[in-house]
Amino acid sequence: MTDQGNHGSHVHGTDLGVTDEFWGDESASVRTALAWAVARMARSSDPRSTARPESELATAAGATVLPEGIGAPAAMRVFSEVLEPATRAQGHELNLAYIPGAPNRSSVAFDAVTGSANIFGGIWEAGAGGIHAENEVLAWLAGLLQWPESAAGCFVSGGTIGNLSALVAARKRALRRRGARPEGGWTLVCTDGAHSSIPQAAEVLDVAIARVPVDERGHMTGVALREVLERTPSAFAVVTSAGTTNTGVIDDLADIADVCADHDVWMHVDGAYGGAALLAPSVRDRFAGIERADSFIVDPHKWLFAPYDCCALLYRDAADGRDAHAQHASYLDHVDREQPNPSDLALHLSRRVRGLPLWFGLATHGTDRYREAIEKTLSTAREVAAGIDAIAHLDLLVAPELSVVMFDRPGWDAADYASWCDRLAHDGTMLCVPTWWEGRTVLRVVFVNPDTSAEVVLRILDETTR
Ligand SMILES: Cc1ncc(COP(=O)(O)O)c(C=O)c1O
Repeated sequence: MTDQGNHGSHVHGTDLGVTDEFWGDESASVRTALAWAVARMARSSDPRSTARPESELATAAGATVLPEGIGAPAAMRVFSEVLEPATRAQGHELNLAYIPGAPNRSSVAFDAVTGSANIFGGIWEAGAGGIHAENEVLAWLAGLLQWPESAAGCFVSGGTIGNLSALVAARKRALRRRGARPEGGWTLVCTDGAHSSIPQAAEVLDVAIARVPVDERGHMTGVALREVLERTPSAFAVVTSAGTTNTGVIDDLADIADVCADHDVWMHVDGAYGGAALLAPSVRDRFAGIERADSFIVDPHKWLFAPYDCCALLYRDAADGRDAHAQHASYLDHVDREQPNPSDLALHLSRRVRGLPLWFGLATHGTDRYREAIEKTLSTAREVAAGIDAIAHLDLLVAPELSVVMFDRPGWDAADYASWCDRLAHDGTMLCVPTWWEGRTVLRVVFVNPDTSAEVVLRILDETTR
């Protein structure tokens, strides 16, 4: 490392060139932290669940935030010996619980680079270079959506804030077009399969929810939506799922787009998990109709091989996002609103350029490699589903539309599922947590890691559930 980039009289040039007048020589902190980061990126992950009770961690870590500080080596020791070992490695290939993540090492490494550059990514004037790279990724996503030139977006922390930001814009557009808030307030339309962040967004927005009944496989259909919209004139947005969290199914987007157009209602597609599969030719036709949606999110920290935290939020017409989110204040008046300022497009102002790790992964490996990685996980899911179907003591319940497989072990109750999952999590065999489906406890595995072997998963399932 050199002291290039450090300019000015405050830098006195130690071996690492990280001395400032006030903070003094921080070379030891920098060296210690970066050496740990490099070593961590080189090592493979421990798949065991190792969370400890808070009181135990407090004792093991000791007090670290003290008036006089404990110094970098001691703080680093606490992190590496006590704190980090009490976290679960999300990216392990046998983490199949919730919606896992599987970042490639290029993107993880670039997260460290992004942090060290400390770019303010809220406005173009401060973060142009970083925002440009983020926008190239967003334009690539807009291309996958087959959206027009008017599309734009930004990266936010996660699907929850992405969904909320999109719905804020939807309500603003409805108000603009209809001229007044309906008597009794606005209504958001979704199914019971919508992610928990949608009712949460409704709560924040103080709007009602109208639920659309799903078909026998859990999809929202155009027919069912039309019935709901016909009796809900206060509807301002329909939230569709392109990959429900529990079962991974995609709503009937083309029919829904027709109905939304007929009723002049905003169509939002929550692709936090499943949106990544837009890349995959084997399932692309299931997304037909997405080209007519008004907003879309995908979490690259789920299935696009990027680290936390990262959600891409896109508007079909960027003006809708700007109209809802641009903040105005005397000290913000000089911000050039002609520029693509990410802060104008979501519920945030200060932000890191969190799209850069994804950008670097894509730039390094190429989009074809990402496509292959998604196809690999899709075929792993299909292979595991077929294998479960062939295991006599397991029942396949939901064959994957994307990469979620749901099954059960007839004869087991909720306590059996819980103890089986806990045992496998603690010994590091596999992470898989039970879920609730059609009134009962069942199992669910989700594939997002191209290194996961269907054969290994099937062997574990077969042997440990007998
Ligand atoms: C479909 C869907 N939408 C939204 C979210 C929320 O995303 P985040 O956890 O990034 O806030 C999730 C998370 O699992 C999800 O699966």
